Amino acid sequence: MNIRIFATPQEAGIYAAAIAEGVLVSRPRPVLGLATGTTPIPFYEALVNLYRCGLDMSHTITINLDEYIGLPPDHPQSYHDFMRQHLFAHTNLRTEHTHIPNGMASSLQEECERYDRLLHDHPIDLQILGIGVNGHIGFNEPNHLLLARTHVVRLREETMRSNARFFASMDDVPREAITMGVQSILQAERILLLAFGPEKADIIAEAVRGNVRTDVPASILQLHRRVTVVLDAESARGLPGAIR
Ligand code: PGA
Repeated sequence: MNIRIFATPQEAGIYAAAIAEGVLVSRPRPVLGLATGTTPIPFYEALVNLYRCGLDMSHTITINLDEYIGLPPDHPQSYHDFMRQHLFAHTNLRTEHTHIPNGMASSLQEECERYDRLLHDHPIDLQILGIGVNGHIGFNEPNHLLLARTHVVRLREETMRSNARFFASMDDVPREAITMGVQSILQAERILLLAFGPEKADIIAEAVRGNVRTDVPASILQLHRRVTVVLDAESARGLPGAIR
């Protein structure tokens, strides 16, 4: 794993966006795997800035990692709405090229299968990932096994607590989500794992330096050939040799 440590999330976001631009301009129909949450926001800001400076995204296909079950796409906490707010509304990405699991599907099983076909037909060139405080990637939660393909997951208590900051009360926090599986994530040609802030320092140290364990899902990224871990000074604190 390559590790890059920046002074601030903003600098890290600019670095990640520059890598994304390299991918976007080198392929006729680039495919970006995208993440939601606080972490990728500086990346999206920098990518929107590159678009404003001339980066064409009209041929780019985007495939998001996950979505809550039961939130309609116009719900302010849905990942559909997040993506609109932070990226889609500010670029020339075409709506028909953007993909997010449908958490309102009448058959969630069919929706998972549809998403896997989509991933099969559009192999991801660059996957952007955050990491949960419990080590999850997408919503692949710590478990005795990790599921390969797109699936419905019951969110763990610590994930719901972490998500609660965006909802009026704990009762409003969705308990289930659809997520891409770990095999789909590992099939991306290149992966950027982003993590910022002191609350991510311990899990980053475990995921990057510890053993590969299903109860630290991000540790499976050690098995991928082309992962760059993009950190700020605070999230890098637990890594030996990190200066700040
Ligand atoms: P966060 O979430 O960026 O809001 O910390 C990351 C994640 O859960 O993957």
